[in-house]
Amino acid sequence: MKLLVIGSGGREHAIAYHLLKSPMVESVFCAPGNPGMKADGISCVNISEYAFEDLITFAKKEQIDWTFVGPEGPLFEGIVDQFTQAGQIAFGPNQAAAQIEGSKLFAKELMQKYGIPTASYASFTDQSAALSYLDQQSVPIVVKVDGPAAGKGVTVALTKEEAEKAIKSAFEKDSSQQRLVIEECLIGPEFSIFSMVYKGKVCHSLPARDHKRLLDGNLGPNTGGMGAFAPVGDISEDLYQETLRTIVEPVLVAMEKEGTPFNGVLYTGLMNTAEGPKVIEFNARFGDPETQVVLPLLKTDFAELINDLLHGRETQVEWMEDKACLGVILAAEGYPAKPIKGIEFALTSLMDPSMKIYYAGVSSYKPLISSGGRIAMITCLADSKDQAQKKVYQYLAEQDLKQIIYRKDIGSFLLKS
Ligand code: AMP
Ligand code: GLY
Repeated sequence: MKLLVIGSGGREHAIAYHLLKSPMVESVFCAPGNPGMKADGISCVNISEYAFEDLITFAKKEQIDWTFVGPEGPLFEGIVDQFTQAGQIAFGPNQAAAQIEGSKLFAKELMQKYGIPTASYASFTDQSAALSYLDQQSVPIVVKVDGPAAGKGVTVALTKEEAEKAIKSAFEKDSSQQRLVIEECLIGPEFSIFSMVYKGKVCHSLPARDHKRLLDGNLGPNTGGMGAFAPVGDISEDLYQETLRTIVEPVLVAMEKEGTPFNGVLYTGLMNTAEGPKVIEFNARFGDPETQVVLPLLKTDFAELINDLLHGRETQVEWMEDKACLGVILAAEGYPAKPIKGIEFALTSLMDPSMKIYYAGVSSYKPLISSGGRIAMITCLADSKDQAQKKVYQYLAEQDLKQIIYRKDIGSFLLKS
């Protein structure tokens, strides 16, 4: 098969790499991809992830069997709808179903209607109503800007002043269009599950855990994610099954009933609260950086799995339950607010086949030059999370990384429960 992956980050590097490992796959293209992928034999195509017509023309010309859409942006813009109209097969939700991520309010209303456990909330289109509601609430409290905010529209406010500032700044931007969700702050360890779905057939991943805060000890601002591991030891099999039964499966049924059936990867972001698992968010795609630690645990051939789903064949997914994968993100100094660009850096070659580097914001591979906030992720697949962690940090300690930052506690920060 010839496959196309849309996107350019570490997640897309991992998706393309694992697809290419399949004996069924002859070549994998990535549009636009990044130069770090080329070392793995992935062919980068210089077409923007939003240039749908050009992507379709390319897919037709190269006789691509199917396309895997990595990031949310093109999904919100209807890439899957356009591919389908053009007779091309694309794995991802259509524009209507992608609202599960694109609109916080859509997701909240769906959960409320179908009794899916999540934080209680109220929504606002008006600043003064939002501020007077805030007055009656206690802190901490969470303010979420509705719309495709790509993870940057959430403020977990510890004080009323912080919440007030978040509300005011949301309405400052474009008060006529703005919608806000103010919700209860959930407390407990976070985890996520990825469900690969197509026309009623579903394969769930093991649970994974991201580390969203910039600094050690879970301090500092929220980022796209600074490191991850899977599976998650403190999420028991019972809890995992309960989450599938009370949250993931019901939401897929709910979307079907609402006339917006979900196909593609459903990302369920959860918190294990004192009252049981509750939803923090749904995303319409794989997580970045969770994908880089989840896909290496797949025993099943990834390309075959997606191909079988797309063709309505019976599928069964198997994971390496006795292994663990952990990865640490390297980011440019200044990330997330203002990452320095153009850092030239080097990483020594990996001698250990259980380790792997996935590249993200790089504009050149030889030499490596950064072009974004998150630059690369160093991962290791091992018999235990601790072993994987040790190997990754040993490798990082040997590197000369000027102007590059990373967390030193991925996998060992103890989350409050
Ligand atoms: P999101 O952009 O929805 O992924 O949110 C970013 C992060 O904000 C999440 O990973 C959580 O750590 C935090 N967060 C979001 N909603 C809540 C909530 N209701 N209670 C506590 N933390 C939350
Ligand atoms: N790692 C969080 C996300 O992909 O949204």
